[in-house]
Amino acid sequence: MTTLKAVRGTRDLLPPETALWNRIEATARAVFARYNFGEIRTPVFEDTALFSRGVGEETDIVSKEMYTWEDRARAQSEKTQTLTLRPENTAGVVRAYIEHKLGETGQLQKLYYIGPQFRRERPQKGRYRQFSQIGAEVIGPPSAGSESPLRDAEVLEMLATLLDELGIEGWTLHLNSVGSSADRARYNDALRAALVPVVGQMCADCQRRAVTNPLRVLDCKVPADQPIIDTLPVIADSLDEASKAHFAAVTAALDAAGVPYTRNHRLVRGLDYYTRTTFEFTHGGLGAQNALLGGGRYDGLSEMIGGPKAPGIGFAMGEDRLVLTLQTQNPAAPQVLVDAYIAPVGEAMNAAALNLARELRRQGLWVELGDGSFRLKKSFEAADKTARQIVILGEDEIQTGILTVKNFSTGVQTKVPRGELAVFLAEPAGA
Ligand code: HAM
Repeated sequence: MTTLKAVRGTRDLLPPETALWNRIEATARAVFARYNFGEIRTPVFEDTALFSRGVGEETDIVSKEMYTWEDRARAQSEKTQTLTLRPENTAGVVRAYIEHKLGETGQLQKLYYIGPQFRRERPQKGRYRQFSQIGAEVIGPPSAGSESPLRDAEVLEMLATLLDELGIEGWTLHLNSVGSSADRARYNDALRAALVPVVGQMCADCQRRAVTNPLRVLDCKVPADQPIIDTLPVIADSLDEASKAHFAAVTAALDAAGVPYTRNHRLVRGLDYYTRTTFEFTHGGLGAQNALLGGGRYDGLSEMIGGPKAPGIGFAMGEDRLVLTLQTQNPAAPQVLVDAYIAPVGEAMNAAALNLARELRRQGLWVELGDGSFRLKKSFEAADKTARQIVILGEDEIQTGILTVKNFSTGVQTKVPRGELAVFLAEPAGA
């Protein structure tokens, strides 16, 4: 029989690596709390129309990468639906905002999420078919200040703080504005016109995009096309006064907070819902998939999916890429050792050993429980790999109430009364 393996582009995450994932998530939750964000959990699958309308039919995500299926009706009361595993979480959050009428609170909604997303991309380092995003969205009615450039700057400042607290060194913030939809329509016309004389020399994708969605030409990675793209007009020249003022206010606030950024005229992002501010944080250590995170403003998304006017701004970090970056920076992450390994001497001691382990664990110690069928040598070897100390539990120890503890880093062996054991193990001599 063929052995079954994890599907291409999916991975199992195992300890000790999962400890790093948990640390990243705990740091993110702590930072989000300080900025007054609350957690939202939306379903992993949604009606396909949410993504085709929200993210955009012409985007790579919707046109090539979604896991979509027909979900057959199981009862007369149900309809057969077309469903999709979420390729991103912003559309789902905005759907929930509309569905739960969160706009009627009149307050800004500040929501974060952590969870898996699915895209049928070509797998490579840092790019998977199931990956995890840590993201956040700030959304609300204009009366709550949702259009303010201060919200953009605050989100970017929070990201700089979060990356610093995670210990990610050497990130770059790329910043741009894609303007209002009217600005983008103007820019698309300018691009379309500029592409006419040159598009014949460009890749097949660009030839198609030049007709359907010229903005997407700026996403092209084909080396031969780059010198041509460099000659195309930049979107900054198509922005109206209001979009220019918004962008200037964002950069002024970033300057005041001391958050460094570089203007990147080509940063138009691969999703159609963006308006005005767009951004990515990149890291040189990641190779081709160098975006640690991406995001931007989406002032029209709620209306695109049938909701009220609800401007917003948000981002999603690729958690897999945060992990890769931290592992590259710090290849020899120290192994976490538990406080004590309890070694019963003989199987008759197993039950008493479970009771001792229970006592110590209930006092907060990290304890590994061995097995009385092991010879003492085997117990010592196992303990040395997992614990800072070993506790021997035999007949004598039960009778005298005095336990033998050996500390592996000092080599010192100590007799400890059972009543003092927890305190002793928590603060080993010489540690
Ligand atoms: P995105 O740029 O498509 O934006 O994805 C955000 C981040 O998710 C990327 O920068 C990358 O780190 C990670 N990512 C994307 N695809 C993969 C993959 N196949 N494997 C590993 N990591 C990946 C969004 O998803 C928007 N929803 C962000 C946003 C929130 N904009 C406004 N609010």
